[in-house]
Amino acid sequence: MIENWPENIIPERVPRHVAIIMDGNGRWARQQGKERIFGHFQGVESVRESVQASIELGIEYLTLYAFSTENWNRPQDEVNALMELLVDTILAEVPSLNERRIRIRFIGDRHLLPQKCIQTIEEAERLTMPNQQLQLILALSYSGRWEIAKAVRRITEAGMSAQEITEELISNFLETSDIPDPELLIRTSGEQRISNFLLWQIAYAELFFTDQLWPDFNKELFFEAIRNYQGRERRFGKTSEQIQ
Ligand code: FPP
Repeated sequence: MIENWPENIIPERVPRHVAIIMDGNGRWARQQGKERIFGHFQGVESVRESVQASIELGIEYLTLYAFSTENWNRPQDEVNALMELLVDTILAEVPSLNERRIRIRFIGDRHLLPQKCIQTIEEAERLTMPNQQLQLILALSYSGRWEIAKAVRRITEAGMSAQEITEELISNFLETSDIPDPELLIRTSGEQRISNFLLWQIAYAELFFTDQLWPDFNKELFFEAIRNYQGRERRFGKTSEQIQ
């Protein structure tokens, strides 16, 4: 166990997989009287904090909703700036990811991304593939319904019969086929919605909503979400007596 283990977190009950909807960058920037993109820049710091918190707790998978399918409808200037920020950040971070044995992966409709972005994410995936401390999964040009529709198309193309369709088979055709479902989903900024994120995978996830805007989210707030999660009773449809 690490020396500075955060207070009141039970090591045996740390989730294996945490997913985050990072929301509120635009509002944070506007509150400072700045352009929205400034909030996205600051949001990268909160990504670093969350990655660091995950490493300290020994979390195995961290999935971040960085750009949804719906985000393509934002003003072109903001989309371009976000793509540039993603490319620059990912390129710059690869050595540090390798040092900390973090594997980076991307889920989403990569064909819609600019060529430079596709090249960068594929290079980052290749360079960090052997790392086993933490899998950092960035959802880019992603939506849950897109993912499920793609899985159904692929199942049909594979010639599966109706009798072969099981929940397990569908899971195996998702982008996350080799990743356990998240036990905890965090959303910042006070919105209490799922917004088309990991629709299949969060069937049993605990949901944690905080009013903090994403650029204000930090390691301590991440730990707070874990403590809150550890205080929940996870029942999976059973009665509370069955759980005891
Ligand atoms: C939501 O805030 C945030 C996004 C759509 C982008 C998230 C991207 C980052 C934090 C940069 C990530 C970088 C890496 C390397 C993963 P919003 O713009 O919807 O905020 P608003 O609801 O206040 O308008």
